[in-house]
Amino acid sequence: MAGFPIDVHLSEHGLLDSIAEDVRRGMTSPQKYLLPKFFYDEEGSLLFEQITELPEYYPTRTELSILTDIADELMGRVAPREIVELGSGSSTKTRMLLDAGYKAKTLTRYIPFDVSQTIVESAFIELQRRYPGMALHGVIGDFERHLGLVPPAEGKRLVLFIGSTIGNLEPKERLELLGEIRKLLAPGDFLLLGMDQVKDIAVLEAAYNDAVGVTAAFDLNILKAINNALHADFNVAEFRHRAHYNRDLDRIEMHLYANSPQTVHIADLDMTVEIAKDESIWTESSHKFTEATATSMLQDAGMTLDAWYTDPLRYFGLALATAQG
Ligand code: SAH
Ligand code: TRP
Repeated sequence: MAGFPIDVHLSEHGLLDSIAEDVRRGMTSPQKYLLPKFFYDEEGSLLFEQITELPEYYPTRTELSILTDIADELMGRVAPREIVELGSGSSTKTRMLLDAGYKAKTLTRYIPFDVSQTIVESAFIELQRRYPGMALHGVIGDFERHLGLVPPAEGKRLVLFIGSTIGNLEPKERLELLGEIRKLLAPGDFLLLGMDQVKDIAVLEAAYNDAVGVTAAFDLNILKAINNALHADFNVAEFRHRAHYNRDLDRIEMHLYANSPQTVHIADLDMTVEIAKDESIWTESSHKFTEATATSMLQDAGMTLDAWYTDPLRYFGLALATAQG
């Protein structure tokens, strides 16, 4: 990897330990559930990249269009020496900001932080080619547990958390994470937070129930990931994916429903799980925001909204924020 460090704080063993505890809790809850971070094994990361290219899945291209429009102005205004990005994935959209900072010669270091080592390694190959001379420092960890392990700042910092990944957390976890993110910000540093906005329900539901079934394959892959990690025997073919919008809580809820009664053995947990026909496992939520709810969420976490960037249809929003003094 041509001399660029990747700190791995998530040993394979550590990840399995936390999966075991979380899966046991989720499979004994009245509404069975699994946690979104289990999605991103190698196969899951590849399927996610395919989701971002679906015609129904507007968030990626909308956020990309906003970032393209604002990149020069934003990077001029903030002028960070380094970007720390949480849940960086393939870093594709980030290149708009990296391009602007590299061109302006103000940005000297990029620190992608993700739970998936393979995706960060493959992103590095392209980044090294595109930005000769820029320092790269990868961090592999769980942003809900390892944010304290981000390398110390070498100058003015922009923390990026885009892709509406914040929306996949429950309100309590979201507030805790924003509190930890706040600690990464010194006076003069900024956070850029990307959020999908509340909109027409038909548009939202189509985005998470695409016609060719890539989202279904992504959702179902969580069962394969658990079969592999914990020697379980979920019969993936006997589950179907469905996402519906919850108007009261402004969120998409993704579930896997059993087509027939299932008895699942999870060997590593020494556990048997009974799942009735049409019972569901809740795999993920995707909360939707408005400028107002984004502003109050940031305020609750001790941050101030400095700017709100959106697209003409107000499909997506990017909040630029600072820590309150
Ligand atoms: N930022 C990219 C990818 C979004 S998908 C984009 O906007 O397209 C969410 C990313 O966050 C994935 O790469 C996934 O591996 C990572 N991720 C999910 N939960 C995580 C966690 N708890 N800690 C660290 N990374 C996580
Ligand atoms: N955070 C994005 C969203 O909620 C991307 C995403 C995460 C996603 N998990 C997903 C998209 C599952 C589709 C299906 O939209």
